[in-house]
Amino acid sequence: MAERYQTLKRAYSGYHRNQAGPNLELAQVGPDTPGGEYLRRFWHPIELSSSVQDRPVALRVLGEDLVLFRDLSGNLGLLDKHCPHRGASLEFGKITECGIQCCYHGWHFACDGTLLETPVHPDARYAGRLFHAAYPVRETAGLIFAYMGPPDRTPDFPHFDFFDDDVEGRILYKRPSPCNWIQTRDNEVDNDHGYFLHTVMAGIQLTTAHQELAKINLFETHSGLITTQSRRVGKNIFVRINAMILPNLSRIACIEDGQGNMVFDRRGPIVHWSVPVDDENCFVIGWNTVAANLPDKKLNAYMDRERAAGHDLYTHPQLNFTFGQDGERSYAERQRIPGDWDAWVSQGPIHIHALEHLVPGDGAIVRYRGMLRDGIRAVAAGEDPKGLVSRVTRPLETYASNTAIPVPQASTLADDAALIDEVERELVARTLDGTYRDGYRHPRQEQESSVETDR
Ligand code: FES
Ligand SMILES: [Fe+2]
Repeated sequence: MAERYQTLKRAYSGYHRNQAGPNLELAQVGPDTPGGEYLRRFWHPIELSSSVQDRPVALRVLGEDLVLFRDLSGNLGLLDKHCPHRGASLEFGKITECGIQCCYHGWHFACDGTLLETPVHPDARYAGRLFHAAYPVRETAGLIFAYMGPPDRTPDFPHFDFFDDDVEGRILYKRPSPCNWIQTRDNEVDNDHGYFLHTVMAGIQLTTAHQELAKINLFETHSGLITTQSRRVGKNIFVRINAMILPNLSRIACIEDGQGNMVFDRRGPIVHWSVPVDDENCFVIGWNTVAANLPDKKLNAYMDRERAAGHDLYTHPQLNFTFGQDGERSYAERQRIPGDWDAWVSQGPIHIHALEHLVPGDGAIVRYRGMLRDGIRAVAAGEDPKGLVSRVTRPLETYASNTAIPVPQASTLADDAALIDEVERELVARTLDGTYRDGYRHPRQEQESSVETDR
């Protein structure tokens, strides 16, 4: 058998295809797995606030079956789904002033898991001494977050900069994907797919700027990495920056055509996490800020121009951030115009990294997975992983931006590539050291241009 599995070197070699399995160190999310322990060091959004009303919500997160509820006093509880008496699900429980009562025999639990009473079993001595498995929760920005790690390592709740933004225009969502969570995050740092999946295949999803291949790059940050897409668009140099914040949060810059004048437009309208349900399922949860919901406000240069030209932004195909992000469309439609969801789900329940043939353009994917692996090993060694927020005093910057500035084309393609490189490096440096707030002007920038700086 040994000679059966080889690197394929000739046509019709299917019999010799590699049969490698998944990288379980990265893929597993359950309790007592290295990846699961790593993920349990972070706060994760687990549900939309709007979904937790007067009934308990059954959830599966990180391979654990849970029930989330809001008691009649307004406090949130996140408990193991199965009652510790005889295992009935608390999703059928009765919500009380101070917790939830199991439907079967009425055992009553506080939001922190304390067993308050056992009304049907007055002789039981558990009340006040038995604690059902519970996790702390926090509610902010229309999302409910949970921390499922060791209590003595609970980090501060992260104060991301976008929590301070105006919430107007946000559409919150939670979208399931039947695949390992890393597949949806690989997609966020895979900038090359914008050219083919969203432009050649779809033709309508991104702007004309994306019809040219961009130079892509990655840079490490204090909390993860940013990726850049830099290209010339006519008289402009156009640099787009997206952020990946460890372990599973991404912030995406606006869709932009690079034809306006703007520096550090930092309104990243898409903010979302990918949260594992188990090894083979996850959900993407967060929000899009939809231009059509902001009739009196600027969202970005491209959208402003489209609006001024009389286009309806709500139905505008290039500004429909929801296209292809879930499995709701028909199979035939998804085959005709596949979206991100179709690409990452089609990689399989757990994508097998060992079967990939990566190229230099996949560098951000390699680096991101390497960061996950380093974090998993740091936790296994008793250390804090990169990206863990602890005792922070100011908002954490999340960096997504667009910049389009009029710098005349150099005389040769090589010189212009070097010029684009120079602008990109300067923009990244200013992004990371905070001097973006002072704006940016290239020495060769056209004098007559008026350039706006956001934030
Ligand atoms: S199974 Fe829950 S109270 Fe008996
Ligand atoms: Fe995409």
